[in-house]
Amino acid sequence: MKTSRRISEIPMSGIRKMFDLAGPDSINLGLGEPDLAPPKEAVEGMNRAALQGLNKYAPTMGLPQLRQAVAERFSVYGEITADNVMITPSGSSALLEVAMGMVDPGDRVLVPSPGFVIYGPHAQLVGGTYDEYRLTETFQPDIEDIKSKIMPSTTMIVVTTPSNPTGGVLTEESKRALLDLAEDHDLTILADEVYCSFVYEGKHVSFMDRLDKAVVVNGFSKMMAVTGWRLGFICANMEAMGPLMKMQYHVCASPGMPAMYGVLNALPTIDPYLDEARATYKRRRDLITRRINEIPGFSIAPPQGAFYAFPKFDLDVGSEELGNTLARNGLICTPGCYFGKYGEGHLRFSYAASEERIEAGMDMLSKVITEGRWKRCPTTTTRTHTSSEGTTQRRTRSRPSSNTSSKTTTRGSR
Ligand SMILES: Cc1ncc(COP(=O)(O)O)c(C=O)c1O
Repeated sequence: MKTSRRISEIPMSGIRKMFDLAGPDSINLGLGEPDLAPPKEAVEGMNRAALQGLNKYAPTMGLPQLRQAVAERFSVYGEITADNVMITPSGSSALLEVAMGMVDPGDRVLVPSPGFVIYGPHAQLVGGTYDEYRLTETFQPDIEDIKSKIMPSTTMIVVTTPSNPTGGVLTEESKRALLDLAEDHDLTILADEVYCSFVYEGKHVSFMDRLDKAVVVNGFSKMMAVTGWRLGFICANMEAMGPLMKMQYHVCASPGMPAMYGVLNALPTIDPYLDEARATYKRRRDLITRRINEIPGFSIAPPQGAFYAFPKFDLDVGSEELGNTLARNGLICTPGCYFGKYGEGHLRFSYAASEERIEAGMDMLSKVITEGRWKRCPTTTTRTHTSSEGTTQRRTRSRPSSNTSSKTTTRGSR
């Protein structure tokens, strides 16, 4: 049967490979999925809706009451109203709808590297292409690198804050620099803020106050630990919202009704739940940071947001080979190279896992590294470091290649 070239040219996620290599009792620090229970109000609200027969199509933009509740909660970041909010069937489909609604064939999209794995493929699926821009050593967008990659056909730049896979949180300074670029080069910023509830130091920097230049994607999967419900939202100005709504109509008609009632029942009183979730993740973050820094050749600064640790390693082995070795030994993580060409030299560990599991995982990492006899190669890195004087230094040294390039092979997992 004929299938489209469009999809055959897009690689499948690399995560399956890690799971295939690992045995059934492996320690799983590979998945970007909260292990916490959802707020009980959310589950009750969804169940009640389903039992009351609220199982129908909803308005294309989602339940008006939920759009209003989202606008109220997120108006701390900008003057948004329900008209600026469209509920979507997941953050992932929101991102695809933005690509379909705003990117033309031939357009170029700048995506962060290391970065979440679906932005580039989405650009390709709609006939565009993508270019990876570097992050600095502190996981901020490397503005000089971005400048050097803006072409006449570049129309969009994607930014993720807090970031999967790095755990980096955008600074106000980086936000301003991105907005300046967007203004100078007439670019749209696609801000993926699905981890906004999980910032451990400082505060979340949102683009919701700049809907003249940005479209913001957010979601409930991570916030409420309901990855299986498939609900997200887009925040956009009225000019963008019309085409995005049309797109959503053709994609799904509307998001699922019972799940929207569940989220609606929890959202206005979610803060105590989020305070507890943040405290839990922060404890785990501190644990995994300490354990990683005890391992020779590994280093990490405490991730500021999301629930990922993305340590650097200075060993003469590629991240894919190291990830495979760990998987064969019963520890699942995600090689940095799966998150783009600038992710090499890192591994991603999800700490959305119990402290016992994190301890066991780090015991295994330590054992494999100690027994691995890989040589140290102290200056190996392919990213840039912004010094305290603000000058950008680039350090590159070769590391055994994992035989991957973002265009031709699998890029990571959730
Ligand atoms: C950065 C980022 N954006 C978007 C998503 C999509 O989330 P969902 O489709 O569950 O809403 C994910 C999921 O892992 C993510 O890590």
